[in-house]
Amino acid sequence: MTHTCASIILAAGKGSRMKSQHSKVLHKVAGLPLVCHVLQSVSHLNFTHNVVVVSPDNKDAMEQTLRDFHMQAETVVQHNQNGTADATASARQTLRGFHKGTVLVLSGDTPFVSPETMEKMIQARMQSHIVVLGFETDMPTGYGRLVTRGDELEQIVEEKDASETEKAITLCNSGVMAIDAEYLFPLLDKVENNNAQGEYYLTDLPALAKQQGLRTHVVVAEQSQLQGINSRGQLAQAEQVYQNKRRVMAMEDGVTLIDPNSVYFSHDTVIENDVVIEPNVVFGAGVTVKTGATIRAFSYVEGAIIDTGAIIGPYARLRPGTHVGDGAKIGNFVEVKNATLDKGAKVNHLSYVGDATVGAGANIGAGTITCNYDGYFKSQTVIGKNAFIGSNSALVAPVTIGDGAIVGAGSTVTSSVQNDDLHVVRGNGKTLAQGAIRFRTNREKQKKSQ
Ligand code: UD1
Ligand code: MG
Repeated sequence: MTHTCASIILAAGKGSRMKSQHSKVLHKVAGLPLVCHVLQSVSHLNFTHNVVVVSPDNKDAMEQTLRDFHMQAETVVQHNQNGTADATASARQTLRGFHKGTVLVLSGDTPFVSPETMEKMIQARMQSHIVVLGFETDMPTGYGRLVTRGDELEQIVEEKDASETEKAITLCNSGVMAIDAEYLFPLLDKVENNNAQGEYYLTDLPALAKQQGLRTHVVVAEQSQLQGINSRGQLAQAEQVYQNKRRVMAMEDGVTLIDPNSVYFSHDTVIENDVVIEPNVVFGAGVTVKTGATIRAFSYVEGAIIDTGAIIGPYARLRPGTHVGDGAKIGNFVEVKNATLDKGAKVNHLSYVGDATVGAGANIGAGTITCNYDGYFKSQTVIGKNAFIGSNSALVAPVTIGDGAIVGAGSTVTSSVQNDDLHVVRGNGKTLAQGAIRFRTNREKQKKSQ
């Protein structure tokens, strides 16, 4: 960065087209709130201030979100949602004293503007007083149109105020503007609200700047970076744009996706090379998959570390706090939560393993359940290395099964089992010789007499 910059991120709008009780910019793409996508890109540029404009209604939720996602930003409140110029002016106090440099105004509902594009805007701003980020589209409806003369920007006309000729313009406003800090607030003071929506538009700035003989330019970027999100449909489109990008990136990093379009990533998913991901896999937040692991079809994985060569699924569910060791296996219809499985451990069928540690090489039989919750407290199950848990066992935590110990199938284990002991809890079976024949005869008689 060759000179000082600050950002103002507009995030106070009502977002009425979302028809939501939540603020629009807190809706998520790939599990990350829209406004945090913007802040994440901005964070690469080391600005002196990043100011998020919030409303009295979304202030608390916004500040909580900024904390949850570890975003560095200041918030300022826009008291009435009177438009984007009024929103920008809300940062006046926070940016007092910031007169030299560039203020980059971004929209919380336009999440994919890359740091490179922002950098380009700032570079262009050195030769100009205002730079607007525009894009070409054959579907301009809803966007402000950029009226240019040569490479100068004359004015921005909002869709609702545009004439038929202006509506035919396909160069649109992304909502991102870089402004010489010296002129920003004086220009905002001149904005009026005599337009179709009765709002103070930030988009009036270029025309006002022109009237003062200031220079205004456009930087053009790819539309895929600049889609604004105003409705659920656009939110879904943005998710697709993001997912497609992540799928391509994963493959470029050496990950095999058998059916890329059916795999969904979280914003923070980390996948190393030579991982194979089968169709219909969904990653929630906080997953790392190490080299050579396989995630088989229809698995849902969140908050998990999966080590080298491990095999997950098909139809597995990994929940937060899961650590699957090298070469370990989690099979179909197995749920794991807050549990560590050491090297080579196997939980292959129909189990719940929660609040547990499973030692290296242990084998957990089909249908085993760790009973970790008594309705009040969660308790731990510890299973030693090379232990063998027979099918359909219930391990009632807190409980420890020692190294090399065996639990017989169908046991409900309520006390700890020492290393290499064999523990079975089972009623004695009994056989009635030819009893099946007597049973059938009886039943048939009963049925006839009805
Ligand atoms: C805006 C632009 C339009 C551009 C489009 C790009 C204006 C007047 N129009 O339209 O030219 O093509 O973005 O996506 O700027 N906000 C506030 N306070 C307010 C109003 C809005 O903070 O009083 C915030 C919103 O939360 C949102 C952003 O500003 O993040 C843009 O507002 P929005 O209502 O979405 O504007 P658009 O109609 O999309
Ligand atoms: Mg918008």
